[in-house]
Amino acid sequence: MEASLTARDRVGIQDFVLLDAYTSESAFLDNLRKRFQENLIYTYIGTLLVSLNPYKELDIYSKKQMDTYMGVNFFELPPHIYALADNVFRTMMSESNNHFILISGESGSGKTEASKKILHFYAVSCPSSKILNVRDRLLLSNPVLEAFGNAKTLKNDNSSRFGKYMDIQFDHQGGAAGGHILSYLLEKSRVVHQNRGERNFHIFYQMLESGDQELLRWLGLENNCQHYNYLVQGNCAKVRSIDDKSDWKTVRKALAVIDFSQSETEHLFGIIGSVLHLGNITFEADASGYAGLRNGRQLHWLSKLLGIPAQVLQQGLTHRKIETKTDEVFSPLSVEHAVYARDALAKAVYGRTFNWLVNKINESLANTDSSRKTVIGLLDIYGFEVFTLNSFEQFCINYCNEKLQQLFIQLTLKSEQDEYETEGIEWEPVPFFNNQIICDLVEEKHRGMISLLDEECLRPGEASDLTLLEKMEDKIGGHPHFVTHKLADQKTRKTLARGDFRLLHYAGEVTYGVGGFLDKNNDLLYRNGKEVMQQSKNAIIQHCFPLSEPDQKKRPETVATQFKSSLAGLTEILRSKEPWYVRCVKPNEAKEPGRFDDALVRHQVKYLGLMEHLRVRRAGFAYRRKYEIFLQRYKPLCPDTWPNWSGTAAQGVRVLVQHLRYKPDEYKMGRTKIFIRHPRTLFATEDAFQVCKHKLATTIQAKYRGYRVKGDYQKRKEAATKIENCWRGLAARKERQQREWAVGIIKRFIKGFMTRHQPGGAVNREYLAYVRHNYLTRLKENLPETLLRADSWLTPPPVMKEASMFLKQLFIRHMVRKYVRGISQERKAQLVLKAQTSSMFKGRKENYPLSVRSPFLHTRIDMNVKVLQMMEHENVKYGVPVVKYDRNGFRPRPRQLVFAREAAYLLDRAKIKQRIRYGSLKGVSVSNLSDNVLILHVTCDDIKQKGDLVLQCDFLFEALAKLNAIVDKRDFIRVVQGSVRFDIQHGREGFVDFRSGHESAVYRAKNGHLTVESTSAKSR
Ligand SMILES: Nc1ncnc2c1ncn2[C@@H]1O[C@H](COP(=O)(O)OP(=O)(O)OP(=O)(O)O)[C@@H](O)[C@H]1O
Ligand SMILES: [Mg+2]
Repeated sequence: MEASLTARDRVGIQDFVLLDAYTSESAFLDNLRKRFQENLIYTYIGTLLVSLNPYKELDIYSKKQMDTYMGVNFFELPPHIYALADNVFRTMMSESNNHFILISGESGSGKTEASKKILHFYAVSCPSSKILNVRDRLLLSNPVLEAFGNAKTLKNDNSSRFGKYMDIQFDHQGGAAGGHILSYLLEKSRVVHQNRGERNFHIFYQMLESGDQELLRWLGLENNCQHYNYLVQGNCAKVRSIDDKSDWKTVRKALAVIDFSQSETEHLFGIIGSVLHLGNITFEADASGYAGLRNGRQLHWLSKLLGIPAQVLQQGLTHRKIETKTDEVFSPLSVEHAVYARDALAKAVYGRTFNWLVNKINESLANTDSSRKTVIGLLDIYGFEVFTLNSFEQFCINYCNEKLQQLFIQLTLKSEQDEYETEGIEWEPVPFFNNQIICDLVEEKHRGMISLLDEECLRPGEASDLTLLEKMEDKIGGHPHFVTHKLADQKTRKTLARGDFRLLHYAGEVTYGVGGFLDKNNDLLYRNGKEVMQQSKNAIIQHCFPLSEPDQKKRPETVATQFKSSLAGLTEILRSKEPWYVRCVKPNEAKEPGRFDDALVRHQVKYLGLMEHLRVRRAGFAYRRKYEIFLQRYKPLCPDTWPNWSGTAAQGVRVLVQHLRYKPDEYKMGRTKIFIRHPRTLFATEDAFQVCKHKLATTIQAKYRGYRVKGDYQKRKEAATKIENCWRGLAARKERQQREWAVGIIKRFIKGFMTRHQPGGAVNREYLAYVRHNYLTRLKENLPETLLRADSWLTPPPVMKEASMFLKQLFIRHMVRKYVRGISQERKAQLVLKAQTSSMFKGRKENYPLSVRSPFLHTRIDMNVKVLQMMEHENVKYGVPVVKYDRNGFRPRPRQLVFAREAAYLLDRAKIKQRIRYGSLKGVSVSNLSDNVLILHVTCDDIKQKGDLVLQCDFLFEALAKLNAIVDKRDFIRVVQGSVRFDIQHGREGFVDFRSGHESAVYRAKNGHLTVESTSAKSR
């Protein structure tokens, strides 16, 4: 509740105890109105619940709502009937004692609805009991009782016409174990009479409307309410808000659940039928003015349904038994008396049957288990009634309310006092109005109004309502709470009729009309009516009118006395239990939702004693709470108690209130509770708390967010670590696999290496393949760029030797082919020449290698034009400068050697010195040394002919190659060693000696030989 104190401006306050102007009816009303307009129909006065009838379905009774209120502290949630029900239940369970909830209020204010809500709450919320259908029976007893005991009135379409007290018994686990119902003062007069716009009890209409044809035929009834005198007076058989058909079905089902046998049900319906037949019995006066039955049809059905001979019935309805000292005489009745007797009988039959029904339900609810039970009583009883005309019924009802008010005062004050005592707080007397004086006025023995009424009913002679009034004026005329027309002062008298008396009840003044008091109190059923019933074969009637009815001759107790004693019984029952209150208020007479009629509500607030109640509650302290709860809520307001208080709750509260600067007279510290005198003190505290709450909320929010983020971070971190671990594991496993694989490979490699020379097999196949592959790859990258570098061919591993050889050959062939394809015709010719030269001189003449590098040219000289003209037809092919050693003395002469098509020529510039036909050329000699001397041997047959030529030519190999190509003779050129003989001229020989020396020189030696010295090619 404290939680919603802040909302008090908008929707009023939830507990009137906290209303500052607690004595102001207007403030009280304002609060009720404010809340009602927001559909907040419940408000507390402490633990009392004020309930306004919303006259519309509110969505506040769902299972979800029940769950919300279950097990929650009373003041924690907004006021609700469930909060009260739950609190009663939990207190009962924890304290193992008995409780009752008194639900009171005007007709139509919602008492029965409230009691049903409570019952339903228990049925749903309590742990299921061993006797499973106790809950069903408790719930279903309601529609049966409502069918027989409720009726449409002007005030309420489903008005309870009896007071009801229902005990719900709970076992030690809190399961519903049984129940017991007490009913009070059923409005029997309704059976025979209804005001306009009102109905008889529902059951009559339900049966006629919905009972199946067979049943109606058996009962001799028709499916039409209009045919029955007891149902037509109100002229309102049909009501929009009542669904008789579906209610009938519920009743039939309920009867089965609460153990009604087939025959019991039949007998019950038989009685209902017989009441209707009774109502249709009419009388007519015979010649002597006595009543006789108008027709026998009803008698027939009555006789059948009640199992009473028709004559007996007829006699009973038209005669009265008078007892004298010696005899019994039947005296005929007048029509008026007969009607009275008939109605009395109908009322008695219905009333007693109703009591039987309650007992029957009690049997079915009875708990057979003898273990200890605790009880919650529900008292759904009429509230104070004040009409324009108030009669005997209102007198009883208001008396009942006086008694309950008295009980309330006693219990509340007592509990207040008890609380102060148990809490060790000095008892402060509470000023309140004690209504004992009114209760005494009504019920006091011999002097009370009921006693006077009874006396008047019983006394011989002509007693009437007016004599009763006189008697009261006489006996209690001086009482401050009793006024009549005669006793009143001038002013008051104007408001009172002559037959009126006024009582000043605790809730206000009520004026009663005395008319009918005696009759209603007597409720006289002529004795023979009772005796007739005793002959019935109907089991229920037999039960209701037992033969053994005590002291037949003694007058039965009057209604008022019966009521008084049943109230005394009820008070006793209630006094032994802990009280809880629900006060129901009706917001308007029109049954309209949302309409709040100030005057009407003000009236009820007054008559329900709500202001009285509030005054009593507020007499001492407006607010009290257990230390733990108070501290728990307000501890943030004091740095010493926030966030945790380590001492006791009481010490904590003391520190807290000192911090809040409560003045000493504003509060008291009890043993377990703090008591706060004025609501404003609490409101100030609550306001401070609301301000503080926001700050706290921000702090808590920040902390919580931090905590969440931290948690989140922690989670992510954990997740990351987990992933990392997994990943590392995976990577490690992968690496290990790789290493294993690598080790395998290396092992195989090493093994392969070690066995590389063995024949290819499983062990070294791979290695060899690798070696091959590796070699081939390297080879590919390191192939010689040219043929000339073919020697740089990569050295093959042994296994690739053969292949390498093949490859090399292939490569060379390829390169050769490529080279060959790439060279010109001219170069080719030159190379052929070179090759030939090579085959002639390679390894045979020392200076040959030096010549290899120099390419051969076309010619080495520019020939003289004259000579060219001379040799026009000779087709000169090559010319080279030479030194000719002449025959006489070997003197060197520079000359040119020219090769033509047919002959070689020796030229001295423009002169042809010698022509040597190739045919006459026998051969050419050259030494093996490194000189450049050549000797052309020619045929020299006569002396005139010139002999062999000794020449030196710097382009020796080129010249010889050219010559050889032209001459094309085998072994034409000879490489000689030492000396060469030659023909100087025919018959004259000469010699050329070749030798190696330190210097190159050509000279004529002393022996006449031409000596040619040459340095070794290697030393050069
Ligand atoms: N809490 C509620 N929610 C909705 N409607 C309600 C509520 N309480 C009462 N009513 C309406 O008001 C009508 C009268 O209520 P109810 O029968 O409980 O009155 P009562 O106080 O028992 O009257 P009586 O003294 O005549 O028996 C109900 O039939 C229902 O329509
Ligand atoms: Mg009711």
